[in-house]
Amino acid sequence: MTTTAATFEGHSQVFESRPLGDAMGAEILGLDLSLSLDDTTFSTINDAFLSYQVLCIRNQKVSPDDLIEFSERFGEVLPHDNRRFTLKSHPKILVLSNDVDENGDQTGVIDGGDGWHTDHQFKTHPAKCTFLYSVKNPSQGGATDFTNQYAAYDTLSDEIREKIEGLRGIHSISKLKNKRVTISGARDGAVEFYRKQETEHPDVFHPLARIHPETGRKVLYCSPRFTIGLHGIGEDEGDRLLDELIAHSVKKEFRYRHHWQDGDVVMWDNRCVNHRATGGYEYPDIRIMHRTTVEGEATS
Ligand SMILES: [Fe+2]
Repeated sequence: MTTTAATFEGHSQVFESRPLGDAMGAEILGLDLSLSLDDTTFSTINDAFLSYQVLCIRNQKVSPDDLIEFSERFGEVLPHDNRRFTLKSHPKILVLSNDVDENGDQTGVIDGGDGWHTDHQFKTHPAKCTFLYSVKNPSQGGATDFTNQYAAYDTLSDEIREKIEGLRGIHSISKLKNKRVTISGARDGAVEFYRKQETEHPDVFHPLARIHPETGRKVLYCSPRFTIGLHGIGEDEGDRLLDELIAHSVKKEFRYRHHWQDGDVVMWDNRCVNHRATGGYEYPDIRIMHRTTVEGEATS
């Protein structure tokens, strides 16, 4: 990982990058995402994305169209399954918020992502990257944690690496099938919700030692939210091994905690980073985020 600050001139915009933590992450200063990016600028941002895994582009004021246009530089922006909380004018933007409207109804997803996971891991083509635009930040809490899954893989013992080579994780969207998670009381009709999700998204298998499609590096690819077991090994032994791998992957030395500022656009590489929301804020201390998600590749 590049670990020094850099200034980029000779692009359509002059901007700089600065590392955010020891584990991963960089902030980009001086870039305006409401302006179209030339190919050289995009290429520099993409290189930083692949190198730092988590990028925070500071001080943005972007419209829904701007956010979608920037996201589309990285691939196909997916419509969201949860239509209740997408912007009516822009169904590719999901609203995360604890705010309510004049009728007292929720205006966004309020309890998403509270366990370690990577986005769309329950699909055959898990998400490539996710973008969150901080429209309004609460006065406290609301941080997002990330773990570096390259580092998690690189620090496994030779014995464990040999053991997981060729094994696949079983991934499920359903919390009902997952002994490592609990169901939030804030979600109405959770049992019916997850039963319906189970029929729409059958369980999928992904290599535990996943190869990142762009960097070619190996990643420890599992999470407590979506990985419900291991295929190719006995259930009890698989459960013990999965618990060990999960405990390893969330060690403090692999983590970066992002404390949000209004106007941050944070993007992360779901192929080599796990993340979780940390909560710690309550209505009427309002948080509003706009999210886009870019389609990824089948795993190998
Ligand atoms: Fe997520």
